[in-house]
Amino acid sequence: MSLVFVLLLSFIDPSRPIVIAHRGASGYVVEHTEAAKTLAHAQGADYIEQDVVLSKDGEFIVTHDITMEETTNVEQRFSDRARKDGRYYFADFDWQEIQQLTMHERTQRGSDRPALPNRFPNDAGQRVVRLADELQLISGLNKTTNKNTGIYIELKSPAFHKKEFGTSMGEALLKLLATHEVHDRCFIQCFEMEELRDLHDRLHCKLPLIALLGRRPADGDVENIAKFAQGIGPSLELLATRNANNEIETTGLVEAARKSGLKIHPYTVRKHQQPRWSNSLDETHKVLVEQLKVDGFFTDYPDLGRAAVDAVSATQR
Ligand code: G3P
Ligand code: CA
Repeated sequence: MSLVFVLLLSFIDPSRPIVIAHRGASGYVVEHTEAAKTLAHAQGADYIEQDVVLSKDGEFIVTHDITMEETTNVEQRFSDRARKDGRYYFADFDWQEIQQLTMHERTQRGSDRPALPNRFPNDAGQRVVRLADELQLISGLNKTTNKNTGIYIELKSPAFHKKEFGTSMGEALLKLLATHEVHDRCFIQCFEMEELRDLHDRLHCKLPLIALLGRRPADGDVENIAKFAQGIGPSLELLATRNANNEIETTGLVEAARKSGLKIHPYTVRKHQQPRWSNSLDETHKVLVEQLKVDGFFTDYPDLGRAAVDAVSATQR
């Protein structure tokens, strides 16, 4: 186990799950804006998430999609820059151009979650953020508030970027992180197992790696993941089911991960959308924190996640 990982674990009370602000406090303000990250920090998130893609000139951009039109005003500002598929790609724009865009609430096209009409601000002219700038923001907020909120970076579509630019996203990320002071509290997550394996085997990454799982892993997959990662980030749906008596029971994934020495950080807790096995946000929190005892969870509502974790911790003191 690397020294960095040991240091990371020593910062965290292992009996308390970490609260990871999913795209910032994205239940309240537009995802991945500076406002969403600042609010998440103030609401007591242990970690704040950054999904990242690459711009044409190699800047890491904090955004969920490799395309732009669902979250920015690119169609108005650069109307003639779509590809043949009608989509606008961050990979076709340099930072000087991306800075001219404003961000807005995600539109419904291909959206992975219901729009919340009251999420604020829907379109308040906020700018797209670079990873380097967000690291400075969190580091600065940590200093002024005397906190140690961590960062939790997801490499989005490394295979796409490799095809576009011929370079390794993971390698570029490690170079960027080497110039920042957040190394003691940083996870790297990815859905593409090959990228994580490359980070571990070739790049000798010292930061903890989390393998994201959108589908139930096949037999042997969890043990294989443990050869290159320190944890899994499964969809909430994969964790539990309702049995014939209408009781919530584990699918066995948490236990399998634990047996392989892996942390479990499921995604994504939301106020208005529960996994099939849960009837309410309270029930979702209770199952995660008390029944399954996960090591952390992604949430759009870091304040509610913080309260749920702290309530259980208080009763155990
Ligand atoms: O990274 C955890 C979770 O965020 C994965 O799903 O699509 O929201 O990035 P997504
Ligand atoms: Ca993510």
